[in-house]
Amino acid sequence: MNRRPLTVAVVGATGVVGRTMIQVLNEREFPLGELRLLASGRSAGRTVSIDGQTHEIQESSAAAFDRVDIALFSAGADVSRELAPAAAARGATVIDNSSAWRMDTDIPLVVSQVNPGDLEGHEGIIANPNCSTMQLAPILMALRDAVGLERVVVDTYQSVSGTGADALAELEGQLRAHVAGEPKQASVYPHPIAFNALPEIDVFLPNGYTKEEWKVVTENRKILDLPDLRISCTAVRIPVHVSHSEAVHVETREPITPERARELFARVPGVVVQDDPAAHRYPLASEAAGRDEIFVGRIRRDPSIADDRGLALWVVSDNLRKGAATNAVELAEILVARDWVAHASTRGVPRYRGPVPESAGGGTA
Ligand SMILES: NC(=O)c1ccc[n+]([C@@H]2O[C@H](COP(=O)([O-])OP(=O)(O)OC[C@H]3O[C@@H](n4cnc5c(N)ncnc54)[C@H](OP(=O)(O)O)[C@@H]3O)[C@@H](O)[C@H]2O)c1
Repeated sequence: MNRRPLTVAVVGATGVVGRTMIQVLNEREFPLGELRLLASGRSAGRTVSIDGQTHEIQESSAAAFDRVDIALFSAGADVSRELAPAAAARGATVIDNSSAWRMDTDIPLVVSQVNPGDLEGHEGIIANPNCSTMQLAPILMALRDAVGLERVVVDTYQSVSGTGADALAELEGQLRAHVAGEPKQASVYPHPIAFNALPEIDVFLPNGYTKEEWKVVTENRKILDLPDLRISCTAVRIPVHVSHSEAVHVETREPITPERARELFARVPGVVVQDDPAAHRYPLASEAAGRDEIFVGRIRRDPSIADDRGLALWVVSDNLRKGAATNAVELAEILVARDWVAHASTRGVPRYRGPVPESAGGGTA
């Protein structure tokens, strides 16, 4: 087992996800040697303080990945497209948080408790799923394995931190403007986010869905290895700081009771069932924030589906932790534990080959 201290780079280290990655790395027993913090040229030379330790930021460049073992990227898709191949060419293994590589047939797209085996054939780039996909896939996995999945409809209620540091500042500014009786300025979002719900996350696609909604569709199909899964999504931004919530309706192949579903979910690592409506106990964004688990509750029969094959659920998780940083670090931990940090070709195993995106029925995305 590979236990030597590793050199880890965090790209986007000044962002909300990058800072959470540093925090999660520090919290866990990761065999960390050197921590190399990278961002844009604007931040070079600045320092960030995490848990009382001060770290200096360097500008991201191909040369910055020399002797890096694992590079955790969260600086947007353009930076990932440019620098992830350069980092991989220098021998680093990239775990990328952006959408740049997720649907690439040669790139594993992995949720730690769902499809860790897909990591084995990586060739230097691994994709971390979208935050809305991340909290849903382990729940769907439990139902897929026990009773089969026919159809999934998910509506998301996504926090502002999912857009990044600028969006958090915009929400704060609008709240202050509201208290002062001034107009609310919006530039990150097309409308004020304070006291609002925006059914527009990422750009619109020709099929009428947003890119965020279509990520939930295509990424779940790839991770769950169900290329024909019937799944639809409406993604909504709401003025919550941290944690995404999801209303999920599932049609299963075989009958299932809410009691059995609770038992199945409780057995999934990292999933916590919170389901006592009489005591007002159900997953809350405010309680999930700062936690690594995925919380599921409000589990009930969906009477609109015959033969006890329908379930309705409420799923909540911290989008910065499990939705981004924690899963990325968990993937790094699996690579270390299974001795898969090096690229597949150097370990003599076949390269990962996933379902082709076209066969996933995505069409326009
Ligand atoms: N927020 C979430 O919940 C979430 C969840 C999953 C995935 N993601 C993904 O993670 C990425 C970052 O998101 P975020 O929310 O952390 O955004 P953010 O708070 O806006 O941070 C962006 C980071 O990217 C860096 N950056 C920007 N341009 C760069 C360049 N040309 N070269 C190097 N670094 C550059 C920034 O550095 P400077 O400070 O120097 O500008 C900053 O560190 C995005 O791809 C996003 O889609 C986010």
